[in-house]
Amino acid sequence: MMKVGLIGYGKAGAAVARVIDADERFELRWIARRTTDPTDTGHPVTRLAADSFPAWLDRHPVDAVIDFSDASAVHIYGEAIRRRGITLVSAISAYPKETLAYIRDLGRDIRVMSSPNITLGINFLMFAARMLRRIAPFADVEIVEQHFRDKPEISGTARKIAEKLEVDNERITSLRLGGIVGHHEVIFGFPYQTVRLVHDSIRREAFGTGAAFALHELAKYPPGFYTYDDLLLNLIRQDLAVGSAQPAHA
Ligand SMILES: NC(=O)c1ccc[n+]([C@@H]2O[C@H](COP(=O)([O-])OP(=O)(O)OC[C@H]3O[C@@H](n4cnc5c(N)ncnc54)[C@H](OP(=O)(O)O)[C@@H]3O)[C@@H](O)[C@H]2O)c1
Repeated sequence: MMKVGLIGYGKAGAAVARVIDADERFELRWIARRTTDPTDTGHPVTRLAADSFPAWLDRHPVDAVIDFSDASAVHIYGEAIRRRGITLVSAISAYPKETLAYIRDLGRDIRVMSSPNITLGINFLMFAARMLRRIAPFADVEIVEQHFRDKPEISGTARKIAEKLEVDNERITSLRLGGIVGHHEVIFGFPYQTVRLVHDSIRREAFGTGAAFALHELAKYPPGFYTYDDLLLNLIRQDLAVGSAQPAHA
């Protein structure tokens, strides 16, 4: 069973903890956060600080850490996990350029995956959409995103999809309605057919499912910096033998 530490226990982290707790492949050993908030997490909790964290790790060893805290936190724990060979799955949505370079550098010594979109569903949607775009570059592409009424900005995920498909942001339509958690749809308009790829977020626990997938997959690989696409692509290559296609009657 893989021993895991979780950094960050906010809206996302608390949901991730529930998923990791319920997954028999993992044992959630501790939670680290910025404050000493007295909320009962059901796990040992430490305040993440550069002077005390290495000793905490030695007393509470883990195989991997998941980061759902803040872009600055990796500078507090990075060297401590590098020295101990601990795997890192970071879900931080936006790192400054220098921090991203530092995280890539950690990949020289430990297994690292950093993903601003960690749900399995959205990553699969992006992956499938890119394949279809490659196969049918002539098809029209529109992206529709729907979120709760008060979300002010265009969804970052929709912008990411547009970037990956190399279409203009003007191809994104945003709808704001009631309490929709998150809906992303990529529509491919062919001359005689239409393909729709749709993802609906239901609960934040989906972040935990994505982190669990990354932990499980990363464990198969040597130290390095991996993206979600790397993990999906390797899985498809290995398990579905893509790339060794033979004529059906060879
Ligand atoms: N990749 C994805 O798909 C995805 C999905 C959801 C969220 N995220 C990212 O995950 C992060 C957290 O999101 P959230 O909505 O859960 O935020 P949140 O509710 O504000 O919670 C942040 C948590 O991180 C802790 N924290 C903040 N700075 C820290 C530091 N320097 N050291 C240790 N702990 C620190 C906080 O500690 P205290 O509790 O002590 O204040 C809190 O527990 C954000 O970067 C967000 O963008 C990514």
